[in-house]
Amino acid sequence: MILTEVREGTTSVLVPEQDATSQFPPGSVPIFFNQRMELNRDVTVLLLSLLKPSDYLDAMGATGIRGLRVAGECGIPVTICDRDSTATSLITQNKIHTGLPVTIVERDVNALLSDQSFDAVDLDPFGTPAMFVDAAVRGCRRFLFMTATDTAPLCGAHFKAGIRRYGAVPLNTEYHSEVGLRILIGFVVRETVKYDRGIEPLFCYAREHFTRVHLRLRRGVQAADDTLNHVGFIHQCKKCPYREEQPGLLAHDYTCPHCEEPLQPIGPLWLGTLYNREIIDLMLSQTGMLQLGAQKDMTKLFRLCRDELPTSTFYDYHHIAKLLGCSPPHVDIVLERIRTAGYPATRTHFSGYGIKTEAPLRIIKNAVHGEPQD
Ligand SMILES: C[S@@+](CC[C@H](N)C(=O)[O-])C[C@H]1O[C@@H](n2cnc3c(N)ncnc32)[C@H](O)[C@@H]1O
Ligand SMILES: [Zn+2]
Repeated sequence: MILTEVREGTTSVLVPEQDATSQFPPGSVPIFFNQRMELNRDVTVLLLSLLKPSDYLDAMGATGIRGLRVAGECGIPVTICDRDSTATSLITQNKIHTGLPVTIVERDVNALLSDQSFDAVDLDPFGTPAMFVDAAVRGCRRFLFMTATDTAPLCGAHFKAGIRRYGAVPLNTEYHSEVGLRILIGFVVRETVKYDRGIEPLFCYAREHFTRVHLRLRRGVQAADDTLNHVGFIHQCKKCPYREEQPGLLAHDYTCPHCEEPLQPIGPLWLGTLYNREIIDLMLSQTGMLQLGAQKDMTKLFRLCRDELPTSTFYDYHHIAKLLGCSPPHVDIVLERIRTAGYPATRTHFSGYGIKTEAPLRIIKNAVHGEPQD
């Protein structure tokens, strides 16, 4: 295995040299490293530098880059775990290379988390984190973070796999990226409340091929019950863009007021907020203080998330334009028309064509078309 040095933030580590001609270069080597996850790691480093947990577990280390960055750039005691001995050898080499004082554990992380707890736990598996969440909640004192890259099951493209992994019914809608993130959080909620604990989303987002969740865990029956109040269903019409929310764990029967068709329930999923706006503001004020490679994209992401209306879905206005048979105007024109009609409306980080608003469908169609629609 030929190693090459990469630098992220202020940390330089050795990673296996990948075959750049391969369809998925990170898959061409025995130890995983994906340069496209730099923003994902940058956000976590920034958030941890504000939250300052007493310790942090990089539960799935691979090259160790995530944990080493947290140790070096946030000054937090770090443990890096991986069950694969090739990975732990490279992490040990990187520990020497960086001179950072991390603890390295070669173990199945579900066993480690059953034995030991950490203030912050970060799951970064291949694909789904579903089989690690129970142990992670038990072994986590305050901050639980995770990445999921199995977007097809989460978003409804692989329908049955989504149901098996997350115990929720997905649907491949125009807002599928948001459904995926909310199904993942809904699953984490159910894995958490059984221990009489609740969750508070700090910063949860979806981007390209992954969803990323940063949560604070809260103790007590009240916290668990309060959390469950934000779980429910989205009911989507299969014929038109109409949808509505319903809290609770039992899906009711609803009919589309436009098409008189039965609505399809999606969930159970998280209907609550995805962000703590104070934390986003703090992260925005700090982005310049750290040397972060993804600073520009991150700032854009933070601003979009901070300004998003807290609805549980968004409308794809290109999709609506297609239904109406018109060409879509600029997003700012659509937003302005909705606001002029008396309803708040914002963009969303989930999609460049996405619009968040609680305006009735009629108002949204008018805004996309520019003329009153039936
Ligand atoms: C996607 S990679 C981690 C990438 C890394 N966190 C980063 O930011 O570059 C997933 C890693 O999880 C490890 N892994 C998979 N299942 C595991 C388990 N049950 N316990 C511990 N490590 C595991 C694999 O060996 C692999 O190195
Ligand atoms: Zn309908």
